[in-house]
Amino acid sequence: MIKPETIDKIFDAARIEEVVGDFVTLKRRGVNMLGLCPFHNEKTPSFTVSPAKGIFKCFGCGKGGNAVNFIMEHEHFSYPEALKYLAQKYSIEVDEEKPSPEQQEAMDEKESLFNLTAFAQKHFEDTLHNTEEGKSVGLTYFKERGFTTDIIKKFGLGYSLNTWDDFTSKALKHGYKKDLLEKSSLVRTRDHQTYDAFRGRVTFPIHNLSGRVLGFGARILTQDKKKPKYINTAESEIYHKSKVLYGLFFAKSAIVREDNCYLTEGYTDVISMHQAGIENVIASSGTSLTTDQIKLIRRYTQNITLLFDGDPAGIKAAFRGVDMILEEGMNVKIVLFPDGEDPDSYARNFRPAEVKAFITENAKDFISFKTHLLLEETQNDPIKKAGLIKEIALSISRIPEPIARSLYVQKSSDLLQIDENLLMAEVNKQRRIKSKDQAQQPTAQEEESWAVTKTPLEEASVKKGISLRHQEYEIIRTLLLYHSQVMIFDEKDEEGHDVRFEINVADYLINEITNDDLRFETEMYQHVFDEIKSAREQEKMLDEQYFFTHHNPDVSKMAIDMLTSPYTLSNQWEDKHKIYVKKEEDNVKMNVIEILYAFKLKKLEKIIYENRQMLKQEMEPETMLEKMEFLRNMESIKTMLAKELSRIIIQ
Ligand code: CTP
Ligand code: MN
Repeated sequence: MIKPETIDKIFDAARIEEVVGDFVTLKRRGVNMLGLCPFHNEKTPSFTVSPAKGIFKCFGCGKGGNAVNFIMEHEHFSYPEALKYLAQKYSIEVDEEKPSPEQQEAMDEKESLFNLTAFAQKHFEDTLHNTEEGKSVGLTYFKERGFTTDIIKKFGLGYSLNTWDDFTSKALKHGYKKDLLEKSSLVRTRDHQTYDAFRGRVTFPIHNLSGRVLGFGARILTQDKKKPKYINTAESEIYHKSKVLYGLFFAKSAIVREDNCYLTEGYTDVISMHQAGIENVIASSGTSLTTDQIKLIRRYTQNITLLFDGDPAGIKAAFRGVDMILEEGMNVKIVLFPDGEDPDSYARNFRPAEVKAFITENAKDFISFKTHLLLEETQNDPIKKAGLIKEIALSISRIPEPIARSLYVQKSSDLLQIDENLLMAEVNKQRRIKSKDQAQQPTAQEEESWAVTKTPLEEASVKKGISLRHQEYEIIRTLLLYHSQVMIFDEKDEEGHDVRFEINVADYLINEITNDDLRFETEMYQHVFDEIKSAREQEKMLDEQYFFTHHNPDVSKMAIDMLTSPYTLSNQWEDKHKIYVKKEEDNVKMNVIEILYAFKLKKLEKIIYENRQMLKQEMEPETMLEKMEFLRNMESIKTMLAKELSRIIIQ
């Protein structure tokens, strides 16, 4: 358990724009900041961050919350995990009441691994710059590759001494447990001997989106063909290679700026391109491209350009990449480098302007790419040409959007000089084959959701059952939004004198609801109501900011959902919706009363309905009479309430 004082400290320190900014590129828009929502796919930004209120809200998908909610949602963290993440980011010490040993272990493992990789990164970097061997071997190698000191520092490159246990012994001395060292795959064990995994290699740290080191790639410096050229960190609690893109941390803002992402094959390509001034570059190192990686790119842009080696392996990889990207509904272009060159070597052999020119001149859309590549060898060979048409149809069939599909069909039928309808037929055939492949057995989850499907009869009874959700929602929203607004009542006292009394919205609603002994059906609403009530008993007023940073993440999310609209977050007064909100404010008194009476009426309606249902059952005549009497009472109160409501409104 994290202490409430510590939670307060974390909430105080966390700047929403910084927390979100680690994952989403934000642009200033008036008092707010705007970006592409990380929770759903969108092309035009509707994800709004309000630094003043400390909250985010997406007007596309509706997600909203404070900094803690964001981290929970985005990183799939539990509440304490999210708090600890923020504590770490803002160097706040978390003094916890002791968690159970198992809890501790699970929570600590990830954090310890992060600590260890950070330690390793510093160690290797230090070795590169400050040891004789580091300088003469590692640094010399990088310099020979043409890397500048600036770029070496920017990417945190390092060197691991060519000894058995330089790193292992330092890490042990530093208090890291052997077990953890093995889990990180920085250290290996054979015959009870532990030794460094990266001996005599230069190291490339791999960062996550917030710049923390997850793992490494380590390149050999000798020509030894028996040893692998690169050793990459193995899968761990923190490193899932299929979900990581090398260089994205350094590239993300350039990707947004250029609205395009260059995808290369490795560490050296990314670094050399950066050095040539092209910064929207990333690599799927140590693995071939995955769908998760493509989805990651989609947060920043819809456009990917593959920069691949023109050798057969590169072409094959490009073919695969193209289809996967199309399948995600994104746009893809391909640049093949002359056989034997990759982006890295090209960026070293040519000037930055030449690199840029080469890429723009050689970027082909996937149809031209496939056609040009295959057309030469298929000239005058009908069988091969049929194969090419199939190949193109296959790619087009992966595009989810029908309009885009038909545009591509048009274009490629021109290029291939075949009938458009014929090509479309082939595309549709491929789609049918694919959808058959994908038609699977229902998942357990789907089965379950069918199981709870209601029969028409059940459905009807649910509809008749009376839900107060909407009225309760309105009461709580009014409490949060207008709590301190003053309502003025002009009444007459017993002697007929005019008297005026004033009461704020919070006290008015609390009195009314408490006097009638009404409870909320929705647990969270009752909770919020009780909290406001006990604050008022101490003459305190809980404002929206209190709820935005509420220690219960469900409450903060609810408050942000209730109290944000594009208009409340916008600062444009002429906005017509803002005027609507303004009107609501002007009529606060009327609104509050209407909402309260609607709540009471609905509550009564429910009681009446439930009692009528009961009357249908068999019961003692006496009980029945009692119930009927009770029902009559309720009905007359209901009539009274309705009259009262109309009196107040007309007044
Ligand atoms: N790569 C890898 N594992 C390998 C080989 C390559 O992960 N066994 C990745 C690395 O990210 C590397 C990229 O593929 O940066 C390009 O491979 P390659 O050109 O062979 O590596 P370089 O280090 O650039 O070697 P060279 O100097 O020979 O071009
Ligand atoms: Mn290379």
